[in-house]
Amino acid sequence: MSYCPLRRQTLKCTVRTPPPSNGAISAGNVPRRDANIDVMSTSHPRISARVSAITESATLAVDAKAKALKEAGRPVIGFGAGEPDFPTPDYIVQAAQRACAEPRFHKYTPAAGLPGLRAAIAAKTARDSGYQVSPDQVLVTNGGKHAVYQAFATLLDPGDEVLLPAPYWTTYPEVIQLAGGTPVPVVTDERSGYLASVADLEAARTERTKVLVFVSPSNPTGAVYPPGLVAEIGRWAAGHGLWVVTDEIYEHLVYGDARFTSMPVAAPEVAERCVVLNGVAKTYAMTGWRVGWMAGPADVIKAAANLQSHATSNVCNVAQAAALAAVEGDLSAAARMREAFDRRRLTMTRMLNDIPGVICPEPQGAFYCYPSVKGVLGREIAGRRPGSTAELAGLILDEAEVAVVPGEAFGTPGYFRLSCALGDADLEEGITRLGKLLGQGQLH
Ligand SMILES: Cc1ncc(COP(=O)(O)O)c(C=O)c1O
Repeated sequence: MSYCPLRRQTLKCTVRTPPPSNGAISAGNVPRRDANIDVMSTSHPRISARVSAITESATLAVDAKAKALKEAGRPVIGFGAGEPDFPTPDYIVQAAQRACAEPRFHKYTPAAGLPGLRAAIAAKTARDSGYQVSPDQVLVTNGGKHAVYQAFATLLDPGDEVLLPAPYWTTYPEVIQLAGGTPVPVVTDERSGYLASVADLEAARTERTKVLVFVSPSNPTGAVYPPGLVAEIGRWAAGHGLWVVTDEIYEHLVYGDARFTSMPVAAPEVAERCVVLNGVAKTYAMTGWRVGWMAGPADVIKAAANLQSHATSNVCNVAQAAALAAVEGDLSAAARMREAFDRRRLTMTRMLNDIPGVICPEPQGAFYCYPSVKGVLGREIAGRRPGSTAELAGLILDEAEVAVVPGEAFGTPGYFRLSCALGDADLEEGITRLGKLLGQGQLH
């Protein structure tokens, strides 16, 4: 036992003596490398096992490839985008411009966010979903994705299992594993409209299960859980002492008769173990501004804020000013985008279902279609016979110059995700090209 300077307490830890100083100024107290040590012979891998296990985000990769081809002059139509094809509303941009000109916005903010923004997020959450939180139950993060990271880093210990309904958003399993957890996919398909039932979840639960991930409206499927099922799942989770990480980033993008329901409101018994994730990216077309948040029990938010204080300090002060204008404003810009996505999802679903071998349930929310293309796999298309959707997506990009994200990225091979966040004319042209190419397979 010795005194550990890092923790300022007595515990079992190794205290290394710094190398003798030669008087030269070195970088902090980093020991100098001995010139006789052959660095090539070290048995340590260059990249840690934890990080080398992470795969590149497939959705970003497809989007980047499509954009690169476009820049090279190819008439590529990209269905990979996970972001609204609209500019950020003017009043939000103007708020940021004003902030840029004010020196106080050139400084750090408290790590957990501008107090005014935390309060506005709490008020907006009560207004939009009915979930009541106080400002100290809100942590402003660097985008919704960072809120996902913070939530799992704060909740998980090695060995904890996380129930993850699939198809899932591609980031979830990576972040869960990075936090030491084990993602346990609960696979759903088009026959249930991609909805997991309590029975499906219960079948996957073990005594190591700590968290359930709940994303409604869903990326990639556009599924929206009906209020009764949200309440049932919330009560089930509470009954088993599970935590719920619920992602509400698409809350304002629901269509037809579908209704967004917030889990801690539908099932108040789970609220003390529920973390709500959200952000400005999708509702206000603000993907590049990088402002998200997590809301939940004060102890979890405080712990996550401690982590954030060492990881990133605060979110960009000017971007927080923009987010404040967004969440304090009305939802009219979101309503206009919703109208466009609604029209496009219907066109896309109809056109996809007209392609032989493709089955596309009508998405009820978000801005994606998630058709099954299992009926196309194995057919000969343009002289090739793709055996996986990853291969088929490559062939489609080569032959039809259309970019789609294969279901492998979402834990369910046999499917594609197509985003509706592109102009109506491009959308129709892209699906027409897809139909012509996949239709060829019919002839063989
Ligand atoms: C389900 C879901 N959650 C969170 C995010 C994160 O959004 P951002 O980091 O852009 O705020 C996304 C983005 O695609 C998403 O689809």
